[in-house]
Amino acid sequence: MTQDELKQAVGQAAVDYIAPKLRPDRIIGVGTGSTANCFIDALARLKDDFAGAVASSDASAERLQKLGIKVFDLNEVSELEVYVDGADESNEYLELIKGGGAALTREKIVRAVSKEFVCIADESKWVDVLGRFPLPVEVIPMARSYVARELVKMGGSPVYREGVVTDNGCVILDVYDFKMVDPRKYETEINQIAGVVTNGLFAQRGADVLLLGGKDGVKTIYPKY
Ligand code: 5RP
Repeated sequence: MTQDELKQAVGQAAVDYIAPKLRPDRIIGVGTGSTANCFIDALARLKDDFAGAVASSDASAERLQKLGIKVFDLNEVSELEVYVDGADESNEYLELIKGGGAALTREKIVRAVSKEFVCIADESKWVDVLGRFPLPVEVIPMARSYVARELVKMGGSPVYREGVVTDNGCVILDVYDFKMVDPRKYETEINQIAGVVTNGLFAQRGADVLLLGGKDGVKTIYPKY
């Protein structure tokens, strides 16, 4: 199977996973990226079974609307039944790195409001220790250099993602060379740097379940405790 076929398989698996949770008055959270797009496309078939979605990016909102799925502003919604999104890395505790698509802040907000986070990924995203993928950090533009210096003090090698402005009008630093044995600590410490909006670690609230696509099919993985 190609990587695209694996993404389609996990997108469909996520639709099958959430189908029993859908009700006409329920709203779900939908993430961003190529794997999330496969989920959105497969979800269109069930569009009459739920009220609509909150999207973690303008791009996903547009894709949902094109398929006839109503998009809600998060401020109109008090709780999301379930949130489905991809990831750049996952460890066995289902602590994640996200933000390769620059949507990390909205993703973290949608995750916070959701009762359950279903992560979908192909097996290339599975790692022993988070940090092979550079950690995205969303930063207020005027703080970019200051935040970069602070990240260097923590042992990281930040690189400015040139030409990218997030949906929130901010910039992204991609931080190489962190080997995160304790991702929760990194998540807290990086968020305390003045000028950081948020970082792409989803460790304090990671995924509740991971649907991981590989050559033997889609595995359902729960966090190791
Ligand atoms: C976007 C994300 C994505 O979920 C992550 O980058 C994975 O993307 P893809 O499914 O395209 O590999 O966090 O900000």
